[in-house]
Amino acid sequence: MIRFKSIISRIVFLHVVAVVITSILMSLALSWLLSYATNNIHNKAMQEQAVSVGEHLRALPDGSLELKLPQDLLGLYSQAYGRYSYAVIDRQGKVLFSSLRDQSALFPADAESSDVEFLQQRRGDATVSGASIKKTVGGQTVWIQAGEDLANRDVLIDDIVADFYKNVGWITLPILLVLLIADIAIFRRALKPLREASEIARDIGPARTGLRLPTDEIPGEVRPLVSAVNQALDRLEEGFRIQRDFTADAAHELRTPLSILRTRLDILKDEKMGQALRQDVDGMAHIISQLLEIAELDAFVVDPSEKADLRSVAAEVAEFVAPLALAQGKDIALLGATEPVWVKGSPEMLNRAIRNLAENAINHTAPGTTVEFVVEDNGTVSVSDHGPGIAEEERNLIFQRFWRRDRRKPGSTGLGLSIVQRIAELHLAKITVENRCPTGARFSLRFMPLRP
Ligand SMILES: Nc1ncnc2c1ncn2[C@@H]1O[C@H](COP(=O)(O)OP(=O)(O)O)[C@@H](O)[C@H]1O
Ligand SMILES: [Mg+2]
Repeated sequence: MIRFKSIISRIVFLHVVAVVITSILMSLALSWLLSYATNNIHNKAMQEQAVSVGEHLRALPDGSLELKLPQDLLGLYSQAYGRYSYAVIDRQGKVLFSSLRDQSALFPADAESSDVEFLQQRRGDATVSGASIKKTVGGQTVWIQAGEDLANRDVLIDDIVADFYKNVGWITLPILLVLLIADIAIFRRALKPLREASEIARDIGPARTGLRLPTDEIPGEVRPLVSAVNQALDRLEEGFRIQRDFTADAAHELRTPLSILRTRLDILKDEKMGQALRQDVDGMAHIISQLLEIAELDAFVVDPSEKADLRSVAAEVAEFVAPLALAQGKDIALLGATEPVWVKGSPEMLNRAIRNLAENAINHTAPGTTVEFVVEDNGTVSVSDHGPGIAEEERNLIFQRFWRRDRRKPGSTGLGLSIVQRIAELHLAKITVENRCPTGARFSLRFMPLRP
């Protein structure tokens, strides 16, 4: 059995089979009907001829019969014409009259026959087909036979019957093909809502759990599947929400013991030990605040009407991180656009994303070098440093949660870039990572620009 992936190809295949079978059966049936009809006409005509020959039979006073055909009938049955013939025979089978040269009967005598009979008989090369009727003339029963030589039969009718098979086939085929095309068109129309639903399904992911497939236009036959998928998505979204809430709650719960820990450290006698422990506590607080941020971002939905000036956001971040850079003997520069650059999105989220990029750049750039912020009019902001850069094989890893090159580095959580990526996703922004010459990395975020 041939297997089809697509319903349309299955329909086309079955339809073609049906088309072939139907055109064969239809032409067979129709040509049978036609030959049945022409046979009927022929039989009727032969019966009428026999009757009209019989009308000219007369009994003579001596008891014998006489046949006097008018001129037109004589012409019809003349040997020269050769197409029609007649014969009259009596009960004993004796031929009383015949249009044939040898005065023979057309069909064998049959005293048992009914009033009208249709017969066929071979005579030499020819086949004679006709009717035999029983008639009583002057108290004497005779059989009048009238026949037609099929070889001489009207060629037109024969041709029609012979061609019928072919012609009907050719007419049926295009009609059924038009039906097939109509079927395919109907089917494609019916499937259109499914294609549209598939496009929506493509966008569903951890970042967009709220989307559902539309069911209004979906054909009834597949609607149960689509509804079931929607219900499955409801359950998944609920699962996601529970997990998100758990992360947020856990991070939140950890804050209080952490601040208690910090106050206790303040009254610790050993000043050196206190300093070291305070640094650890700060590291932990950093992780917790990033976890909270992630949980918050997972539930965050960008307000489509919100807009941000990328240039002023970048300036804010630069100002915010400047003390951190200076403390490590590094510098900050803000370059590019001099006018506001409006993009779609939440200013607070853009700030977070750029700040994470800036902190990384400051941490990795070599002492004495400058971290550059560049804002472009097309909605791009980039942060460049003079650090070691990012190896080609690490470019996907760095965005994974908790991935960091050096796990022992204090304050490194591996969450920063995953936050950046999540914010970019929410804003349909594109992140690019490149290395600079001779060394350094450049992270760019390209947002959707808003035309004033
Ligand atoms: N500007 C950069 N230059 C070199 N490596 C970087 C840079 N930014 C990030 N990385 C690498 O990517 C890892 C993940 O970064 P991130 O997610 O921000 O986590 P974290 O900064 O807490 O380590 C970092 O640990 C570092 O190894
Ligand atoms: Mg970081």
